[in-house]
Amino acid sequence: MVELEKEIKEIVERYPDRRAALLPSLYVAQKHYGWLSQDAYEAVAETLNLPKATVKGVATFYAMYKHKPMGRHLIQLCTNVACMVMGAERLIDLLKDRYGIEPGGTTEDGRFSLVIMECIGACDRAPAMLVNTDFHHSLNENNIFEILENYK
Ligand code: FES
Repeated sequence: MVELEKEIKEIVERYPDRRAALLPSLYVAQKHYGWLSQDAYEAVAETLNLPKATVKGVATFYAMYKHKPMGRHLIQLCTNVACMVMGAERLIDLLKDRYGIEPGGTTEDGRFSLVIMECIGACDRAPAMLVNTDFHHSLNENNIFEILENYK
């Protein structure tokens, strides 16, 4: 908590006021706790001196924040038009078969969580996904598993 508080205070120094530092503060709290738990909301609210309802209200607006515990690696697979046309649904079926994971779910061993995304801006290289912060594209039924096996 002390380390998180210190990090948030450093962020605040870069912004005109505490409220403007909310989004990056939520990001570091998520890194610290692994997701935005009640403790994470409280830590951010307390450090920024903002109401917890404000902090939670802002956080729940954005898809980039995790509102429940996640696996060690987060797969964010795009299923928007270009990726859908290029086989994203087939990839979801393959992920279900191989890892027993459904969209919105986490594998039993806690290795992967799967989230379906809207367009991630790589339509010319569809289908595409993020694994944690790593970008992968031109996915197919072979290379998706070669990629994912690098995440233990
Ligand atoms: S539709 Fe998937 S990256 Fe644009």
